[in-house]
Amino acid sequence: MTAETAYHGEMGEQFAAQATDSVYHAYTDRPAMLELAGDVRGLRVLDLGCGGGHYAAAFLERGAAHVTGVEGSQSLLAAARERVGERAVLRRHDLEEPLDFLRDEVFDVVVMALVLHHVEAREQLLAEVRRVLRPGGTLLVSTTHPTSDWTYFGGSYFADDRVELPFGDGFTLTYRRMTLEVFLGELLGAGFLVEKLVEPRAMEEARRVDPRRYDKTHRQPLFLAVRLRRPCRHPRAERP
Ligand SMILES: C[S@@+](CC[C@H](N)C(=O)[O-])C[C@H]1O[C@@H](n2cnc3c(N)ncnc32)[C@H](O)[C@@H]1O
Repeated sequence: MTAETAYHGEMGEQFAAQATDSVYHAYTDRPAMLELAGDVRGLRVLDLGCGGGHYAAAFLERGAAHVTGVEGSQSLLAAARERVGERAVLRRHDLEEPLDFLRDEVFDVVVMALVLHHVEAREQLLAEVRRVLRPGGTLLVSTTHPTSDWTYFGGSYFADDRVELPFGDGFTLTYRRMTLEVFLGELLGAGFLVEKLVEPRAMEEARRVDPRRYDKTHRQPLFLAVRLRRPCRHPRAERP
């Protein structure tokens, strides 16, 4: 398994800690995605790039019937296991590879929070997501905002280069920046329909936690979050 983009070792531990209470994760991206998810009671959820299990825990708390988390980093999987115990199925897997351990059309919801930009084989991954999601099922995706990447990394807005972002105590995370056209184009090209797109800003509570970062999210969009649907089959397509 390669998964070089996965947050291995201590970097994973630092990410898990940050994701628990940082303004960007706990008060911005995650609440926006959970709101997009809506009522998940009784649903079967697949969390790709599940990190430290924060989404898995949130979906279980909201009454999901079943959660499977997939993650390439051993240290993050351990953090996820600690967070959700035996309440979720957790699996180590490189998202550059097909999800061949999952059967067709078994999930009602697939969530990919801040992970798609790390993956090179995005076309393959999105085709796999479509395969394992039932017709009519929901796909939730968040990513770094293209204008935020452009402001931070400079160069051409249309560049699709791999960028490097300093993270934690001396770590670097790498991902491929995408334009809005590429991000949405790939999701539409994979056969999903966009239902809602939001540019998440930090919740009011974050003002107390970290006023500087709270203000930043209200001046500059840092993330994009979308809810998509796998269309139901056309009735005629099911006739022999
Ligand atoms: C920004 S973190 C988001 C984690 C989690 N979804 C959340 O929002 O809390 C990106 C996650 O994707 C995982 N990841 C990146 N590339 C991966 C790959 N090729 N295979 C599996 N996991 C990968 C990382 O290890 C990390 O957990």
